[in-house]
Amino acid sequence: MSSIEQFGHGGDVWTAADAFGVSSEAFLDFSANINPLGPPPVVAERLQQAVESIVNYPDPGHREMKAALSAKLQVSEERIVIGNGAAECMALLLLAFQPRTVGVIAPCFSEYETLSRQFGADVITAVGQEEEGFLAAEEQLHQLMEETDLVFIGHPNNPTGLVYDRERLERAARMAEKTNTLLVADEAFIDFLPQEEKVSLLPVLHRYERLIIIRSLTKFYAIPGLRLGYAVAHSELIARMIAKQVTWSVNGLALAAGEALLTDKHYDDYVRATRELIVTERFWLRDRLAGLGIKTWPSEANFLLCRAPAPWTAKGLQEALGRKGILIRNCDMYTGLTAGDFRIAIKNRTLNERLAISVQAVLH
Ligand SMILES: Cc1ncc(COP(=O)(O)O)c(C=O)c1O
Repeated sequence: MSSIEQFGHGGDVWTAADAFGVSSEAFLDFSANINPLGPPPVVAERLQQAVESIVNYPDPGHREMKAALSAKLQVSEERIVIGNGAAECMALLLLAFQPRTVGVIAPCFSEYETLSRQFGADVITAVGQEEEGFLAAEEQLHQLMEETDLVFIGHPNNPTGLVYDRERLERAARMAEKTNTLLVADEAFIDFLPQEEKVSLLPVLHRYERLIIIRSLTKFYAIPGLRLGYAVAHSELIARMIAKQVTWSVNGLALAAGEALLTDKHYDDYVRATRELIVTERFWLRDRLAGLGIKTWPSEANFLLCRAPAPWTAKGLQEALGRKGILIRNCDMYTGLTAGDFRIAIKNRTLNERLAISVQAVLH
């Protein structure tokens, strides 16, 4: 059987349906890391209204959404570009700055390397230190800065869920100015962290001219099918990215949903409820999995990197669970990881319980 990650990602219920003989809608999908609370109700309300506007082109200047984001982040509009997902923002960076070499720290989100190669860059990979949850040591970061034109750092990193000390990344950002490297902090999952403000680079971004933060709205607000993300950086960098963007690449429904959720009067409650759920359930799941002999890493995010007990492989476990209609992300193809490694998203208690019971039934 070919890999169900043939497109390089989790969440591919269509390939899984072919592989495991379960219909794509029937899967309990732990392979994509989406907020288990689902989108805030205001999203569906606004989408219903916005359907009428599909006869019009979307605003090519993304004005309402950008104003809402600027107010929420307390960052001026010329420092923001809105994209068709965080993935488009990564592509815009590569198009705008045409790095010849890109640095990544493995294991990490596969698009850093895939996109870089698609846009003609060579990729240099440093494998993070396993005993530090695969975070890069300071010297490794500095070496990547010296050797490459652009470095991607997952913060928190996918698939490990670990974050760096902000000071370590700030030292890297200062180094980036000396070596003329662009440092890209991918904060696609940072909203899930209760300590976001202490960890994120956003509050210190204005100090660094070569630092770019990329964020996603698709995970935290559970709208991956709509596609919405953004980048924040010095206005000159942002202007160069916007100059490469295909007009109307962000569709009108996504813009309307984004504006609605950012200005929602229940916004703070949704954020709090999500964070509380994730922290509680992550503890619960780690404990439950440890009882089944499964090692997990101390993730701060809404997913867990796990290692199956030998002789089980992640692929074997994925197949056994797949036939039961449960999808996990096999991570054996990530540089730096092993055949036993897989990733699961954190959901609500009922669903986490179903996962744990199914894993137990398969392993024992
Ligand atoms: C670390 C990381 N960054 C970015 C993305 C892409 O996010 P988006 O859906 O906003 O394009 C993903 C998607 O899985 C991801 O895991």
